[in-house]
Amino acid sequence: MFSFSFVSLALCAVLASAQTPPEISPVLLEPGNNAGKCLTAASNSDGAAVTIQTCTGASSQQWSFSGGSVKLFGNSKCLDVTNGSTKDGTKLQIWTCSTNGNPNQQFWYTGDKRLSWTNHGKCVDLTDGNQSNGNRIQVWSCGNGNANQVWNTGYLASALPSKSENGQTGTNACGTSSSQSSQCQTAWINGVDDFCLWAPPSVGTIGDTEREEVAWCTRSGRGTRVIPDGTLKGVHFVKTPDYVQVTGVGDFTKINVPRGDAGGELDPHGADGNGNPIGGLVFGNSFGNQLQYHEWTSFISDTEFCFRACVGPNAARNCQHIYDEMGCFWNMPANYDAGTFESCQGDDDLPMGVYGTSTWFQGVNPTPPAHPAAKSSNCARIPTVSAKPAQKKRDAFTTFYAPGPTPTA
Ligand SMILES: *[C@@H]1O[C@H](CO)[C@@H](O)[C@H](O)[C@H]1NC(C)=O
Ligand SMILES: *[C@@H]1O[C@H](CO)[C@@H](O)[C@H](O)[C@H]1NC(C)=O
Repeated sequence: MFSFSFVSLALCAVLASAQTPPEISPVLLEPGNNAGKCLTAASNSDGAAVTIQTCTGASSQQWSFSGGSVKLFGNSKCLDVTNGSTKDGTKLQIWTCSTNGNPNQQFWYTGDKRLSWTNHGKCVDLTDGNQSNGNRIQVWSCGNGNANQVWNTGYLASALPSKSENGQTGTNACGTSSSQSSQCQTAWINGVDDFCLWAPPSVGTIGDTEREEVAWCTRSGRGTRVIPDGTLKGVHFVKTPDYVQVTGVGDFTKINVPRGDAGGELDPHGADGNGNPIGGLVFGNSFGNQLQYHEWTSFISDTEFCFRACVGPNAARNCQHIYDEMGCFWNMPANYDAGTFESCQGDDDLPMGVYGTSTWFQGVNPTPPAHPAAKSSNCARIPTVSAKPAQKKRDAFTTFYAPGPTPTA
């Protein structure tokens, strides 16, 4: 596993210059606060406005990073700062890509997921943070932690590429069947009886296989492997304002984790930005229909697991994954009891590693205690979690609010 220290994080930020995102183009560009909205060109005409709109996967939303520019429509048109004006609030437009490096069309993708106008100290900015369709996008002075300047690169769940990252061993276009030899690396997290775990494709420690883990799910029908009945001994799902989380215990030797393996941590970024597993994507219905989670963190050992997927302005903080040696109980304090299968609403846990105004870094003595688990309520229990088919229509985000009896299909 990768041990970041404060120093290596700072170094990453410097080395992140002149980068393109790790995800293979074309990608959707989704504002950090709403994975259902996409950076969109009004048309392919020179001078067309750039706005956000509901993601549809149309060609006007399929951006490619190429030659220092952000392109679409067969790489013929470029994201362009209107008239090259450096005034904060200048709107972005679409223009024919220049052949001689027009500076108005030069952008780079930063390590903290911003689209920076190269050499200008300006960033692509969701005007006023307004997520309504039609809101025109501007450039604004880059500000650390400005949530309006986060642009996640992603894909529609219904149109996943075969591979989302170079070096990926499996696939994201997983189909609608299931197979215990599947190499699907698209996971879902929807509820106590509808979630996936990352585990090895064949027996091997998490440390040795972290880059290759595949999705093992409670539901068949999404092209993944299915967690065999009897594997899960206790499952606790919680939805908070800013994340969904599933924690529990089981016998994960049934999904290729060797007995005695203390396990390890999986996340979308890894040490090199490519994630563990490489190309692993996570989707869910809890905050909107089939939305991609761009920030998530998960641990699994031979006997316990935890998986959190985050949204909102604090997604990266709530799904912090630099504490990769600290395990589930420290990173995601929650109920892990065997014999209980429940779905609750809850408050956010305090962000891992953050104690008031100070942040602890792994390896620094003394190691602070875990935060207490946040309050939860409205828990609904089910008898057990066993494999069953994904129900396309019913896997709506309403199911959480009315867990009711175990669905019978
Ligand atoms: C850009 O420049 C052109 C030509 O000078 C001018 O007509 C247009 O109003 C300018 N656009 C903006 C948004 O300033
Ligand atoms: C948000 O953007 C939409 C689309 O441009 C606009 O109609 C609306 O007035 C904006 N809302 C606010 C509060 O500015």
